[in-house]
Amino acid sequence: MLKPNYDIAKDRSKTKINYLDVDNEIKKIYDGKKYFLKTYGCQMNVHDSEQISSYLEMLGFARTEELANADIVVLNTCAIRENAHDKVFGYLGRCKHLKKEKKDLIIILMGCMAGQVDVVEDIEKNHKYVDIVIGPNNIFDLPKLLMEKLDKQNILVHSNSDIVPENIIYKRDSDICAWVNVMFGCDKFCTYCIVPFTRGRERSRKMECILNECKALVDSGYKEITLLGQNVNAYGKDLNLGYDFATLLENVAKLGIPRLRFVTSHPWDFTDKMIDVISKYDNIMPYIHLPIQSGSNRILKKMNRRYTKEEYITLFNKMKEKIPGVAITTDIIVGFPSETEEDFQETLDIVNYCKYDGAYTFIYSERKGTASSFMKDDVSQEEKENRLHRLNELVNKYSKESNEKLLNKVVKVLLIGESEKDKEKLYGYTETMKLVNVSCDKKEIGNIVSVNITDAKSFSLDGNIIK
Ligand code: 5AD
Ligand code: SF4
Repeated sequence: MLKPNYDIAKDRSKTKINYLDVDNEIKKIYDGKKYFLKTYGCQMNVHDSEQISSYLEMLGFARTEELANADIVVLNTCAIRENAHDKVFGYLGRCKHLKKEKKDLIIILMGCMAGQVDVVEDIEKNHKYVDIVIGPNNIFDLPKLLMEKLDKQNILVHSNSDIVPENIIYKRDSDICAWVNVMFGCDKFCTYCIVPFTRGRERSRKMECILNECKALVDSGYKEITLLGQNVNAYGKDLNLGYDFATLLENVAKLGIPRLRFVTSHPWDFTDKMIDVISKYDNIMPYIHLPIQSGSNRILKKMNRRYTKEEYITLFNKMKEKIPGVAITTDIIVGFPSETEEDFQETLDIVNYCKYDGAYTFIYSERKGTASSFMKDDVSQEEKENRLHRLNELVNKYSKESNEKLLNKVVKVLLIGESEKDKEKLYGYTETMKLVNVSCDKKEIGNIVSVNITDAKSFSLDGNIIK
């Protein structure tokens, strides 16, 4: 077996360099071969896929968008709800079929499902055609595993869950907007959520490392940075170095990136200092995703969300008052165990009060091993669907209303690329994260332009560029 020249930061107290000097012999094996990468789930996974791509391309693989042309298939999976899990197993079936024709096809399962003990056991027992399984904390082991001989199923899950990898090389999807991880894992243990099990404990990156990465992005002309964490505003708590998310946000804003964003915030960790920093810097975008999950205190308690609806509303009001024009979106789960019609009405009441700019709404899905999986999943599927439908009607009404407020107004839009529906138009986002389709010249891609809003729908706006 060839010895790869490969090292990574194994010790979070030191920042070693994560370099990958691929041996020429290895390159001969993979050069010109094709990889197919499919990403499920949240922004964290999308960003992890940028890391996966860079490793595969360093090894000599080229990307293909056609499964049939692939020599290696990587599924970067999500475990948050049952339907995400089912979709992945459906896709694995297609891969298995392809492997019957293409014996050398390498199939790799990564992401959150690869961090679930029961899924991994199932793969080991019943899905032998899957060659490699790598948990979300071990992405950097992908090249190492591919450089080893694949004569047995190779499974690596959670072996390095305390590591904070540094100097990762990403093949970024965009040269306009960049994701930057600030922390990994989550300690909140909301009772319905699988993330603390699949991604492990909260681990923050050192501030200097994050600032170096952001500075490099500013220097290479990026227009927008989004700081990423499952629980982004708990940043720094585990480090005990005297700085927190507010300090980090302020320091990144000072680097001069035109637009700075962050996701996802937990209401419990949102401090007044953070609100002050957001309102102080024009380049921190006035947009906050603030999941509420339920409007009933009884259900919030059962979810272990650590706040009451009154505390949430106090925070919400403070944000609206101190951050001019702030847009706030949320996540809501319907049909949590024991949720009654009265509990659900309280959720509708909160939506009526907050008039969210947008909301992601979900039907409760039992995840094995979480605290709520030991509660009786007693709301019928029919009732869950009915509540979701009623909730969506309300949520869409308010997002349309908030969009309509922009009619005939001029807003700043960062143009990202060609609109999928209408190739004559470009699409981009307002400071408040609203999607806008704009009629203008392609050469404006990557620019922040003034746009006059001419039409407002529930999920998007139309407008014309103003010179
Ligand atoms: N069932 C339904 N929705 C869930 N979410 C997380 N876990 C579950 C689950 N078991 C939702 C929450 C979270 C979002 C990312 O996904 O609303 O904020
Ligand atoms: Fe899951 Fe709650 Fe952590 Fe969000 S804060 S990742 S919902 S446990």
